[in-house]
Formats: sequence, C-alpha cells, structure tokens
Amino acid sequence: MPAAISWHSSAVLALCCSAALASPLVEARNSPDVILTASELGLPFEASFSTAITPFNISVNESFIEMTTLKASLTRFVDDTPGQAEFTDGPPKRIVQDVASFWASEYSWRDVEADINAKFKQYTTIVTVPDKFGDTPIPLHFVHHPSPRQDAIPLLFIHGWPGSFLEVEPLIDSLTHPPNSSVPAFHVVAPSLPGYAFSPSPLKAGLGARVMGGAFNQLMQKLGYATYVTQGGDFGAIIGRVMAADLPDAVVGLHSYFWVMNAAQGDLERYIAGTVTEEEKAFIETNQRFNHRLWPTFGTLSSMRPRKLSVALADSPLGLAMWIYDLLAPVTYKSDEVWVPERIVTWTMMQWIPGVYATLAIAENLADEGFLSVAGFDIHTYVTQPVAISDFPLDIWHGLPLEWAQRRGNVKLRMTHDIGGHFPTLDVPELVLQDTWTFFGDEELFSRQ
Ligand SMILES: *[C@@H]1O[C@H](CO)[C@@H](O)[C@H](O)[C@H]1NC(C)=O
Ligand SMILES: *[C@@H]1O[C@H](CO)[C@@H](O)[C@H](O)[C@H]1NC(C)=O
Ligand SMILES: *[C@@H]1O[C@H](CO)[C@@H](O)[C@H](O)[C@H]1NC(C)=O
Repeated sequence: MPAAISWHSSAVLALCCSAALASPLVEARNSPDVILTASELGLPFEASFSTAITPFNISVNESFIEMTTLKASLTRFVDDTPGQAEFTDGPPKRIVQDVASFWASEYSWRDVEADINAKFKQYTTIVTVPDKFGDTPIPLHFVHHPSPRQDAIPLLFIHGWPGSFLEVEPLIDSLTHPPNSSVPAFHVVAPSLPGYAFSPSPLKAGLGARVMGGAFNQLMQKLGYATYVTQGGDFGAIIGRVMAADLPDAVVGLHSYFWVMNAAQGDLERYIAGTVTEEEKAFIETNQRFNHRLWPTFGTLSSMRPRKLSVALADSPLGLAMWIYDLLAPVTYKSDEVWVPERIVTWTMMQWIPGVYATLAIAENLADEGFLSVAGFDIHTYVTQPVAISDFPLDIWHGLPLEWAQRRGNVKLRMTHDIGGHFPTLDVPELVLQDTWTFFGDEELFSRQ
C-alpha cells in the first residue's frame, strides 16, 4: 500500500470523528484544523489537504484511468474538408487520430505517474487569504525542492494555461544544483494553480490572480520564505505581476516571459498618423492580430462561458487534448518534436484529472479583476521591484518595445532570443535557465546571504 493511502486513512479518521454536520466541506471550513480529502472534493486521486504540509505522491484512481482510456478509444472524428489547408480552423483529423490511438492503446499513465513521483518532491497544504477570500480554505498541491546552497534564493515558479507544475521540470535540477558558485542557486517552489493537476478547484467563485497571489504568498511564508523572487509565463506571469504589486514586502524581483500589454490610445493614434517606429509598428500589428484573431478563439470564450465549454471538454479526452494542442502547436519552437503524443496526453491529463472547469474559469476571474477582456490582456498594475523580461519570437507579445514595457514596471533587463515560444521551459529550457542566472545573479539587484 503506498504511503499516501495510509496517511489518507488517518485524515479520514480525523474528519469522521467530528462529522456531525450534513456537509463535510462546511464543517471543514469552520474547523480550526481544516482537513479535506480528495474523495470528498470529488477528485479521482488519493490526497488529503490540511493546514499542515504533507508529503504527497500522485495515485490516480484506476477505474478513472480505465474510463479515460475507454473514452479516448471511442473518439468520434471530424472529417477534414477537401482542399482546405491544415489548421485553417482547427486541428487536422490525422493528428486527432494519432493522439487518440496512442492514448487508447499505448499511453501508460502509471509510467508517467511513477516518473513524476520519482522526479518531484510534492506536498499538499491548505492556506487562506482572509482579506481577499474570507475563511474559505484554498487547498494546494505544490513541488518544493530546496537547494543545498547556503546562499540560494527562494523562487516561486508559477505555471500558466494550459500548462502545469510540469513546466518547471526541465529547469528544476539546474536551479537547485547549479554547476558552480558563479551562478545563483534557488530554493524552488512550484504550486499547481487551484483547479490544475492536483490542486483542487476553488471552493467558491471569484478566485482570480489576486487571491491566487495571496495564496501563493501564504504558501511561501509557511515554508519559511519571507522574501522571494517569482518566475513564469502565461497566467503565471500575470499572477507574478499582481503579487509584486500587492506584496511589495515579500516579492523582491520578477522574471517574466509573458510581459503582455496593449498599445495605449496615443500609440494607436501615432500608428494611424504613421509616426510610430518600425519596432512599434511591428508590435502593434502582432498585438492586433492576437487580440482580434486568436484571443477570441479561446480566451473570450473561456472568460465568458467556461462552464458551457467544460461540459464538452470534461467529457471528451480528445476534445480537451485538441482544445489545448491547437493553440500550443503554433507557439512552440520545433513543435513536432515537443508535442509528441505522450506529452500532449500528459499535459491534457493535468486538466482532465481535476476536471476542466476551473482551468478555464480562471480567465473569467481574471476578466472580473480587469486583467483581461474581450480584447486580450491588460495588466494595469505597476511593478516597482526589479523585473527582467525574456522575449521569445513565437510568443504572442514578441517585439514589445522596451520603453513600452517600462511603462508597467521597473524593467531592468530585456533578453530577446532568436528561438523559443510561449512555453520556453519546454522548447528552449537552456535559454530560460541562462536568463534566470543572468538576472538573479546580478548581486547589485539581489544580494545573496
Ligand atoms: C475509484 O473510483 C471508483 C468510482 O468512483 C470507486 O468506486 C472506487 O472505490 C475508487 N477506487 C479506489 C481505490 O479508491
Ligand atoms: C513517493 O514515491 C517515491 C518513489 O517514486 C518515494 O521515494 C517517496 O518516498 C514517495 N513519497 C511519499 C510521500 O509517498
Ligand atoms: C559556471 O557555470 C555557468 C553556467 O553553466 C557557466 O556559464 C560559467 O562559465 C561557469 N563558470 C565557471 C567559473 O566555471
């Protein structure tokens, strides 16, 4: 019997002995030492969440895995339209068939699960953010790899959509155990956003970037990291920006590979008048293409009707896999090498296992907070702490002029690369690592103990 199960039973016992109320969740909320189990939360894996920090290994329910494989094997395919170029309006049938057949007959979740458990030190806990989310518990799954180096910098790695904590995998060993003392080492903490992978979905509506930031800060404090730096792309970069603004005493620096912003009204007027620079012109056009052509195909829908969408995506493994793959492929360098069927399926599992809704509704919550809209992203907070941005050519905000970037933060360093995309830890991890070392290794900005 895996250790996770024996721990799990003691938690069930603790809950059972005071369980007089009708709803365990309501009772847990009011109890000083909150204990929630994955089965109470309707999650198909073994886990217990309490205010303690508890070691965790992934152990997904066998009948859930069988049901998933069966559904993949029953996929109903959509025919291509003769004469239409592939990817014109969605993924081509041959790719859907390849992934479905791999998932149904070759994919071994158990091997993947064992690899992840062997690779990562994982934990669960519960935090609260009283000023922004009342006493509602926020159960979290996270990875924590401390560095043996005395002078290591605590680093909060925040993943994005449709990613997961697995984004940190290509970096984590080099961050904690760098090759020599001329580059900084890091104590790495990589939480799963609520509703992603093994962090349960929020227990009430409205958990956006501000609450997530508050929750991750509580996690860092609980781990003993009073001050720390953050790193991330996609939603992870947005949450990092919000955290930097909300928590100036805790966040001492930010490395972002998704420093999104829109053109200001004055920029657009100069664009129309033909007085922008070449760089500004190129960026405005890239940004407009994203806001008007790409964002509505997923972002607008996710932010306005996530529940409707998740009825379909939570019931079809291939539907979910293609919902994410169709967006990932064009923003990935050497996409065919990165997006092999096994990785497509594993990334899909990180949303499939917890249920899909919360992974989409995050966009609704960010929209309610004003960080995104029908016209893309607009992160209005200003970051005073030192910021570095890494710009990869296949990302959607590629080519943002430095002067513009500095309107929204104390951007000290911009590192522009010739290769790489929206998930650079996946397609160009060595560049992300180098940028991380370069920026946080600047001892004038980040003094080491
Ligand atoms: C797995 O899930 C099924 C269906 O919900 C349930 O009947 C079964 O007891 C679970 N198995 C374990 C080992 O928890
Ligand atoms: C998780 O699994 C790994 C082996 O894959 C093992 O070394 C570790 O002790 C396990 N941890 C827990 C908390 O069960
Ligand atoms: C230390 O490692 C970094 C990163 O690999 C490398 O660039 C640097 O040259 C190394 N420095 C020494 C003194 O070996």
